[in-house]
Amino acid sequence: MLSRQDFHMTDLLYIYLPTLFLAYCVYKIYRIVLWPLISPLSKIPSMPYNPIFGNTKEISKAETTEYSLRVSKKLGPVARYFFFFGFEIVSVTGPEEIKHVLVTRGKNYDRQLRSRKLLECIAGYSILASSGPDHAAQRKLLNPSFSYRSIRAMVVSFQKYGQELNRFWKSNLEKNGATKHGLVAQPIQKDLGRTMLDVIGECAFGYEFNSIWEPEKKLTQAFADVLQLGFPASSWKILIPFYQSLPLEENRRFKAGKKIVRQAVQTVIEHRKNEMKEGKEPYKDLLSVLMMAKDEETGQGLSDTELTDHVMTFMFAGQETTSTGLIWTLYLLSQHPEIQDKVRKEILEVLPNNEDITWEHLDKLQYLKAVISESLRLFPPVAAVPEVALQDDKIGDYFIPKGTYVLINTGAMHRNPNVWPDPETFNPDRFTDPNNPPKPYTYLPFSIGRRNCIGSRFALIGMRVILSTLLRDLQFSLVPGTSYKRTQRITMRPKPPMQLQICKV
Ligand code: HEM
Repeated sequence: MLSRQDFHMTDLLYIYLPTLFLAYCVYKIYRIVLWPLISPLSKIPSMPYNPIFGNTKEISKAETTEYSLRVSKKLGPVARYFFFFGFEIVSVTGPEEIKHVLVTRGKNYDRQLRSRKLLECIAGYSILASSGPDHAAQRKLLNPSFSYRSIRAMVVSFQKYGQELNRFWKSNLEKNGATKHGLVAQPIQKDLGRTMLDVIGECAFGYEFNSIWEPEKKLTQAFADVLQLGFPASSWKILIPFYQSLPLEENRRFKAGKKIVRQAVQTVIEHRKNEMKEGKEPYKDLLSVLMMAKDEETGQGLSDTELTDHVMTFMFAGQETTSTGLIWTLYLLSQHPEIQDKVRKEILEVLPNNEDITWEHLDKLQYLKAVISESLRLFPPVAAVPEVALQDDKIGDYFIPKGTYVLINTGAMHRNPNVWPDPETFNPDRFTDPNNPPKPYTYLPFSIGRRNCIGSRFALIGMRVILSTLLRDLQFSLVPGTSYKRTQRITMRPKPPMQLQICKV
């Protein structure tokens, strides 16, 4: 005779589980076959898609921004993409439509919850992870850290590490027996990543990673682990819910790395607090500005955890993005030796004796500035911004229901011939005439609106200083036979990792 417990088990096995499975199958068939036809987004044009895989095959085969550009050329500035099992998103590539989402109706859109949670897991609870009034309050608090005054004080660090990298490359040239005009295939991607870690470590919390010369140090490795393992966003792992909670070696390394980095930041905070008590002169980094910050109403300063979260956020948002910008700029200059020579000429005119770079020097490096702007147009490290609609809306003529995922494809817009003439050509002169700036909302490497990049000034000045220290007496060219594709990792990176030939001028 069956016991009560056995009866429940057989119920489960033969009735509930199959019913559940059947219901799931019916739901999936509905999502795959019927939903695309009746979805409120069905009026938005889409490319042909596979019922199960959607457009994922074409997207993954194309270079970053290539598919969105193809679609926008064919279907216009608003298009519907399908991912797995009928999951749909709206891609936006037109200046007017981008303005609508990020500015005019900016309050109606926000970073997706899943992205915010992922960023919180990596960097803690700061502006990357917060939303609504909390986000606005944090932005207000963090803005002074990125004022002209703060960034001005960091020029010394940008120059110091640019010069270190210059020295490192020259020493490699010498080691390779090429003391005068020798060439070498140098992994510039790795080297620029380390340089930016050194820069941002010093500018964010006064820490000397010295990773150009000592890449094996524990803290440098820990930072690399957190960055590489914390972002499953660009891989299939994102599809597995709670992936980061699974008992896997990489998750263990991620957690251990995060603990080491946070501990290092906290140690610096404690040290600083003691120094402040002793009345020592404050440092000129982002952390010291934050340590002075007080809540307008309560007069309270930030807690140690909040300070650590903000420093971690600067490091994670700033290191990879800026080094990616530098990598693509040197790549473009390698392909265009005449432009590289012109930049070098300007640098040598403004800084003939390799003097300490000041704000006044930077102001005169206008062609280099234009080169960087043009590089960020063709190769924006952040090529798309994912948003979600918080309430029903309309983009152009199309109805956008609450909860719709909207992808702002700035990178595709930057290469659209309807927006930029001759868009595939690297032409810094697009940015040299101050009376003829880009048309509004057509150039957005740092996004726009409430969540635009808080570190854009840091990045632009940092890139100008570092490039001026490298290009003055080093020449970059492509390694014969190599070519690179744009691929989406954390940022839009070259595939394979970039190597360039370097020689002394
Ligand atoms: C070339 C270098 C950089 C590029 C291209 C870049 C680009 C961007 C873009 C497009 C966004 C908006 C992302 C979104 O809405 O999802 C953003 C946000 C952000 N960036 Fe940057 N960034 C760069 C460098 C930096 C640096 C150096 C820092 C800090 C030191 C930084 C800190 C941040 C932060 C904290 C946010 C979040 C802002 C918010 O949510 O309110 N970025 N960045």
